[in-house]
Amino acid sequence: MEQPLFLTLFLLFSIGIQFVSSHQESGNWHCETDEESRISAEFMPGVVTLDGHADDWDNIEGFEFSLLPALDPDHDHEYKGGKMTVKALHDGKDVYFLLKVDGEYVYKKGNDKNCPSVALMFQVGESATYHSMGGCKQSPDVCNKKTCRGHEVDIMHFSIGNAIPGRLYGGNPVDNRDGNGGDRFGHLVDLYAWSPHCMNLDGVSSTGNDTSAQNDWRGAWWHSSFSTHSGYSEEDSPYSTKGQKGTFYFEFSRALRTMDRLQQDVQFTIGQPSKFSAAFWYPEDGNPWHGSGHYTIGCDWVPLDVPPGSSAGIKVVSRSSWDAANGFAFLLSVVSFGVSFFVAYWVHKKNAISFQPIDL
Ligand SMILES: *[C@@H]1O[C@H](CO)[C@@H](O)[C@H](O)[C@H]1NC(C)=O
Repeated sequence: MEQPLFLTLFLLFSIGIQFVSSHQESGNWHCETDEESRISAEFMPGVVTLDGHADDWDNIEGFEFSLLPALDPDHDHEYKGGKMTVKALHDGKDVYFLLKVDGEYVYKKGNDKNCPSVALMFQVGESATYHSMGGCKQSPDVCNKKTCRGHEVDIMHFSIGNAIPGRLYGGNPVDNRDGNGGDRFGHLVDLYAWSPHCMNLDGVSSTGNDTSAQNDWRGAWWHSSFSTHSGYSEEDSPYSTKGQKGTFYFEFSRALRTMDRLQQDVQFTIGQPSKFSAAFWYPEDGNPWHGSGHYTIGCDWVPLDVPPGSSAGIKVVSRSSWDAANGFAFLLSVVSFGVSFFVAYWVHKKNAISFQPIDL
């Protein structure tokens, strides 16, 4: 138990460090925002199962994005494997995401950086920018919930090196008992950040931990080259042969609202848009990826709509609808009076049938 946790933290720490160093290197970052990009998580209860398989998403509209390097969003350096398709839906309680990326199969058990990896990032604080993961300007030793107030972003990061395809990872009783956003089993972690060098697991901070935090995410992954649809176990690793052409699938869900009291989780509201982005890491040419060497679906926040179930179900309360309601209530009371009168009459007539106790 100790070692995977240590590895998780070490990985987290090294991602943080990588972000710092490259963040300082990139001086000429510029962004051409795509005003068109926007995705919608329609109300579709009971359609998808959180298992990494994508067939149940077939009838859900997908949104396609070019994957550009996060630190230099230049189309010349786009991910060569193809675009990322993002699908989302909600069921009134949970929100679901599917990320689909073409890519030759690569997998090295126990080595996250030699496997593909994905992350979702959401705006929490109103001043949190997409660029620089919240954009708080404070240095690592002074960034905290007071100095960076308003710059909070919520991050879910899934590194699959220890995650068996089709199995569920993320929030689990063991890590949630510790009260932080970790996942010692599959490294599907729940993080928050104010900037690339001020990023931590939910509940963890340099000024002290708050054990009221939880990992609220769940997720699974799959690759189209896998031949079995029954359960894999660890011994089946690497599950497919290296270099097989196909598609990676990453599926996630989270409750629309969480019990976060620390301003570390995004809270979704039906009928209101959120702002998000998705990132992808891939070990290109067999080289392990590094923290800042990721692609993202855009160089600014992408709006995410969470529409209500049915607009027909929402009635505007007006004078006339109140009158109609009152009229209906009156009609109902007249009818029920009639019914009770009839029942009384009927009982009176039938009272010839006497009560017969049952012998036990
Ligand atoms: C906070 O939590 C982290 C991760 O669980 C741990 O490594 C660290 O020692 C904790 N800090 C304190 C002050 O308890």
